[in-house]
Amino acid sequence: MRVVTIIPTYNELEALPVTLGRLRAAVPESDVLIADDNSPDGTGELADRLAAEDPQIHVMHRKGKEGLGAAYIAGFRWALERDYDVVVELDADGSHRPEDLPRLLAEVDRADLVIGSRWVPGGSVVNWPLHRKLISRAGSLYSRTMLGLSVRDITAGFRAFRRETLEAIDFDQIESVGYGFQVDMTFRVARMGRRIVEVPITFVERELGVSKMSGNIVVEAMLNVTKWGLSARAGRLAERFGRRG
Ligand code: GDD
Ligand code: MN
Repeated sequence: MRVVTIIPTYNELEALPVTLGRLRAAVPESDVLIADDNSPDGTGELADRLAAEDPQIHVMHRKGKEGLGAAYIAGFRWALERDYDVVVELDADGSHRPEDLPRLLAEVDRADLVIGSRWVPGGSVVNWPLHRKLISRAGSLYSRTMLGLSVRDITAGFRAFRRETLEAIDFDQIESVGYGFQVDMTFRVARMGRRIVEVPITFVERELGVSKMSGNIVVEAMLNVTKWGLSARAGRLAERFGRRG
C-alpha cells in the first residue's frame, strides 16, 4: 500500500518542521507532499530544504493563497498522477497528531474514506475556546441535518482517502474554497454510496503560528451547505412529482 500525506501550508514556518518530524517518525512508509501557497514567511523555502534531505518529501509551490480546498485538489491530482493507493490530509500545525495516523490507516481497507473524528465517542478537542467548539459542533449538526448525513465530524481535516474514492470525484465541480471543502468532499463521497468510517482522535489546538480560520470561511461553508441541501431536496421532490405525472 503506497501512502502519501498532503500537508497544506500557509505561514507555517515554526510548526511545519515539528509536524514533519513527528509524521516521518510515526509513519515512515508515508511519502509527503507539502502544498504551499507561496507563504510570505518562507515556509516554501523551508519545505524545499527539508525535501532536499529526504527523498520521501515533495513540495508543490502554488502561486498565492487560494484556499485550503484549492491546495488539496492540486495535491490530489498530483497524487493520482503517481501511483499512490491512499491519500491522507493532515494540518501542518500539529492539531492532527501524526501518531494517530496508523489507526486511520488501519481502517482504510474496509472504508472508502476514513475520518479522524473529534465528535464521536473517544474523540475530543484540547485547548479550543468555547466559541470554536460551538462553531464546529453547530456547523457539523447543521450540515448533517441539511445534507442528511450521519457523519459526526463533517468538517474534519484529518482524513485518509482510498485512491478509487478520489478517482470517482470530478474536482472541477468543487466550488468550495475554504474549509467548506471538507463538507463538500464528505457529501460527495456519501452520495456515491461509499463507506465512510470515523475514527476518534484528539485534536490539539496549535501552539505555534496562527489559525487561518475566518468569518468568511464559515459564511461560505454555511451558504454552500444550505444551497446543496435545498437542491438535493428539490431534486427528490422533482423525482416524486415526475413519477406521478
Ligand atoms: N496551502 C494553503 N492555502 N494552506 C492553507 C490555507 C490556504 O489558503 N488555509 C489554511 N491552510 C493550511 C494551514 O497552514 C494548516 O496547515 C491547515 O491548512 C489548517 O489551517 P488552520 O488555520 O490551522 O485551521 P484550523 O485549525 O482553524 O481548522 C481546523 O478545523 C477545521 C474545521 O473543522 C482544520 O483541521 C481544518 O482542516 C478544518 O476544516
Ligand atoms: Mn489549526
